Amino acid sequence: MTDRYAVIGHPIAHSKSPLIHGLFAQATAQDMSYEAIDGGADEGGFERALAAFRAAGGKGMNVTLPFKRRALAAADEASEDARLAGAANALRFDRGRTLARNFDGIGLVRDIEVNLGLALTGCRVLLLGAGGATRGALLPLARTGAARIVIANRTPAKARDLARELAPHLGDCAIDGGGFDELAAQPPFDVVINATSASLSGEAPAVPASAFASGALAYDMMYGKGLTPFLTLAQDAGGARLADGVGMLVEQAAEAFAWWRGVRPDTRAALDRLTVPLV
Ligand code: ATR
Repeated sequence: MTDRYAVIGHPIAHSKSPLIHGLFAQATAQDMSYEAIDGGADEGGFERALAAFRAAGGKGMNVTLPFKRRALAAADEASEDARLAGAANALRFDRGRTLARNFDGIGLVRDIEVNLGLALTGCRVLLLGAGGATRGALLPLARTGAARIVIANRTPAKARDLARELAPHLGDCAIDGGGFDELAAQPPFDVVINATSASLSGEAPAVPASAFASGALAYDMMYGKGLTPFLTLAQDAGGARLADGVGMLVEQAAEAFAWWRGVRPDTRAALDRLTVPLV
C-alpha cells in the first residue's frame, strides 16, 4: 500500500516540499505519496489537520511556518535538536505515537559542509537574528566543532539571552550574543548566516563589512529570491562567497526522508531543479 506523507503550513500553496519529496521517492523507488495541507488560521486548525491525517493512516509530516512550535507541543517524544530549538519540522507517526525532530539545523550544516564544501571545524560563525531560525541552527552548528558562534540581533538582549540559555548544551563551542554594533570590535568571521526575517521588509541586518573574513561564506537562509539585501551587503563588503538557503531546504528534506524511509536520497537532482542564480 502506498504510504502517505504531507507538508503542513499556512500558507502552503508555494511549498517546494511535494516536488522535492516526489523526486526523492522516484529516485529511491519508494511507494509513497506526498501532499500539501493548509493548516489554516483557525485556532486548533493545525492540531485537527494533524489528527485527521494521522487517523487516515498518514506516516509522517513536514511542518513549516507557522506551526513548528505547535508541532513540538503535539509530539509524544522529541529529539534534543527539536527540544532545544523549541520547534519541530518533521513528525513521524509510529505505533500510535507522534515522534518529533528538527532537521533545519542539520540541513544547514550539510549544505555548508557537503554542498558548499566548507568544513566548519574550527570556524568562527556569526548568526544574525535571535528567533526560531537561529535557535534551530545552534546545536547542529556547535556539533560540527565550530570554534565560536556569535549571535547578533537587532534587539541585543534577545541574542544575549539565547546565547546564555544554549551555552550549557554546546560542548566546547564558545557562544556569545549581542547587538550589531558590537561586531566592529570583533575579529572577522569565516561564515556569516542571515537567520533574520529582515529581507521580508527589503532590509539587511546592520552587519559591518569588517565582520566578513576574506573569502568568508555569506549564507542567507532565505531562498529563491536571488540577491537578497543581506547578500548584496555581503557582496559589497568584498571577498565573500554567497549562498542562499535552497540547499538547506533540500538537505532538511533529505534528512526527514531518510528518517521516514530508512533510505538516504541523493539531493543533486532536487538542488539542480530548485537553484535560482544569485543575480
Ligand atoms: P524566525 O522564527 O523566522 O526566526 P522570528 O522569531 O520572528 O522569526 O525572528 C525574526 C528575527 O529577525 C529576529 O531576530 C528579528 O530581530 P528582533 O529580535 O530585533 O525583532 C529579526 N529581524 C526582523 N526584521 C529585521 C530587520 N529589519 N533588521 C534586522 N533584524 C530583523
